[in-house]
Amino acid sequence: MTRVLVTGAGGQIGREVVDAFAGHEVLAADHATLDVSDRDSVLQAITSSAPDAVVHAGAWTAVDACEGDPDRAFRVNSLGTRNVAEGARRVGAWLCYLSTDYVFDGTKPEPYLEWDRPNPVSVYGRSKLGGEHEIGRDATIVRTSWVCGLHGNNMVKTILRLAQEHEKLTFVDDQRGQPSFADDLAPMIRRLVVDRRPGIFHVTNQGAVSWFEFARTVLEVADLDPGRVRPIATADLEPPRPAPRPANSLLDNAALRLATLPLLPHYREPLERLVRELQS
Ligand SMILES: NC(=O)c1ccc[n+]([C@@H]2O[C@H](COP(=O)([O-])OP(=O)(O)OC[C@H]3O[C@@H](n4cnc5c(N)ncnc54)[C@H](OP(=O)(O)O)[C@@H]3O)[C@@H](O)[C@H]2O)c1
Repeated sequence: MTRVLVTGAGGQIGREVVDAFAGHEVLAADHATLDVSDRDSVLQAITSSAPDAVVHAGAWTAVDACEGDPDRAFRVNSLGTRNVAEGARRVGAWLCYLSTDYVFDGTKPEPYLEWDRPNPVSVYGRSKLGGEHEIGRDATIVRTSWVCGLHGNNMVKTILRLAQEHEKLTFVDDQRGQPSFADDLAPMIRRLVVDRRPGIFHVTNQGAVSWFEFARTVLEVADLDPGRVRPIATADLEPPRPAPRPANSLLDNAALRLATLPLLPHYREPLERLVRELQS
């Protein structure tokens, strides 16, 4: 595996994937360089560079905005993935597609297995599942959740900003998930790609929390008072958010576990690293 093309290379995960492939020849295609919804551009970019692998991290990730513009969501997330998959097939490149906990409806009481039946409840989730359906058998699908990292906007940065602006913070206590850190995800994505592991892998940091519990932990790690965070129910959010969220976003990393591959560490470890970096 010598040459790797990364779509969405300017995003949270894309930027870390580019770094994780240091030592390989990396073609970092950000949104401005390559719009995945433009089939001609995608085919040209992939066939002219003939990569050995394509990591497809480009997506329209604005979950609430997707509700208002389903055409754009499906154009980028589903049709865009069809284009990338077609390009990868033409040159025989291994494809890795980034997907999401939002493919599930969140009603299962236990963590979701890779083999559970998806049932997305939002336009974003449906458009990302549409992307999964465009991926052939000989490809890797990495589903992850609650992504945080140094680059781009994410909940750790939002929580710290809100803590500067307000004395009291409220976060929902009835949505649970596993915060996942881009700099832990990227090396695992690299490994699955280099090994050419086919199929779906749930890849998250370990540790299940509600947003309320996570916000408290973020404040604690930042040496702020976690008692400033109050729990609230999703139904009491004002104004309500346009896109429904799964109440249970927990992804059992069963495919990694059963294949005796290492799991990512507990989220507290990368959270401490990130807060240190943001505060330095
Ligand atoms: N964030 C999460 O919590 C989360 C959870 C589960 C799965 N994922 C998945 O992980 C992948 C990476 O997400 P992320 O967290 O890194 O999100 P992100 O920071 O929003 O990165 C996505 C990147 O895709 C780019 N993009 C948008 N439209 C595009 C288009 N038409 N063509 C090419 N690139 C386009 C964006 O560029 P612009 O910003 O310039 O438009 C952005 O740089 C996505 O597939 C996402 O669905 C994310």
